[in-house]
Amino acid sequence: MIITVTLNAAIDKSLSVPNFRLGRRHRTVEQRTMAGGKGVNIARALKALGQPVIATGMAGGATGTRIVDELTAESILNDFVRIREESRTNTSVLDPTDGQQTEINERGPSVSEHEVELFRDKLLYLARGAAIVVFAGSIPRGVDPDIYATLIRELQRTGVTIMIDADGDPLHQSVRAEPDVVSPNVLEAEELVGHEFNDDAERSLAVREIVALGAREAIMTLPDGCFAQVLIDGQPQLRRARVELREPVAKRGSGDAFLAGYVAARYSDSSPDECLRFGVACGAESTGRLGAGLIDPREVRRLAGEVELSAIELPAEVS
Ligand SMILES: Nc1ncnc2c1ncn2[C@@H]1O[C@H](COP(=O)(O)OP(=O)(O)OP(=O)(O)O)[C@@H](O)[C@H]1O
Ligand SMILES: [Mg+2]
Repeated sequence: MIITVTLNAAIDKSLSVPNFRLGRRHRTVEQRTMAGGKGVNIARALKALGQPVIATGMAGGATGTRIVDELTAESILNDFVRIREESRTNTSVLDPTDGQQTEINERGPSVSEHEVELFRDKLLYLARGAAIVVFAGSIPRGVDPDIYATLIRELQRTGVTIMIDADGDPLHQSVRAEPDVVSPNVLEAEELVGHEFNDDAERSLAVREIVALGAREAIMTLPDGCFAQVLIDGQPQLRRARVELREPVAKRGSGDAFLAGYVAARYSDSSPDECLRFGVACGAESTGRLGAGLIDPREVRRLAGEVELSAIELPAEVS
């Protein structure tokens, strides 16, 4: 079983509004409402790929009830801690005439210490039956930024494989807790290591720097694929995976689809290279759809054949 953790679960509302202008009144031509938050999106994509997954996290109020109902309607197994305050609704407006996407994310609920404690107990219980736990996304107000790091340290005793996709302080702290895999995008990685990357040599070194901070393996995604430092027969190796850039219908959630693909392949005992290839194919496929975590597995398999994978050799003095 795979567990995805979404501490700040949401209802994601995507509106299609032609000729969207600030200060005007508009009508939507298409609208879609789905349960969201990074871990939820990853769970949706894992389910589409036929992998066993339970989405957990915290959800509250009428919006929280809706999140759970939507997941259940999609047959995505879920087990959330119910919290007192109302979960977020995130609204994104896509203008089909120019492809621009505007996002408004609510601040979301504040969570009490007792609610965090209930969640911790639930996670440790669920993890007993899991091979992989994925932490993804922002943390709600009132929750200590070291929450992921604390949970990672507790889970490590169970031997479960731990992956994390977060940013800012929670990412900083969790990397030091030595998760198995961390998968930031370029901006998040730059913030994590504290400097910008100007060329491919620096991007290759970035994943090495992230591993030096504590993660066992690091994957840095970017729109045309990823850079990764993976373990092959216990030895660290650098990889570059590349896919042809597409004109995205909606880019949001492509990192979530990437991670779902990577996790699905890893859960199926694929080789490290195949895991990266499948992740990149899922990310690319998801950009063709309005709604995060939506992928077509047949199209993913076709795209996976087009992903180019290469080993990166670093000069001796920097390796
Ligand atoms: N324009 C694109 N064309 C093809 N593939 C893309 C494109 N944009 C993203 N992808 C795919 O999605 C993956 C993740 O992309 P990216 O690093 O931009 O995600 P992200 O910033 O983490 O997104 P999010 O956090 O919103 O889900 C890439 O590795 C790639 O496989
Ligand atoms: Mg991301």
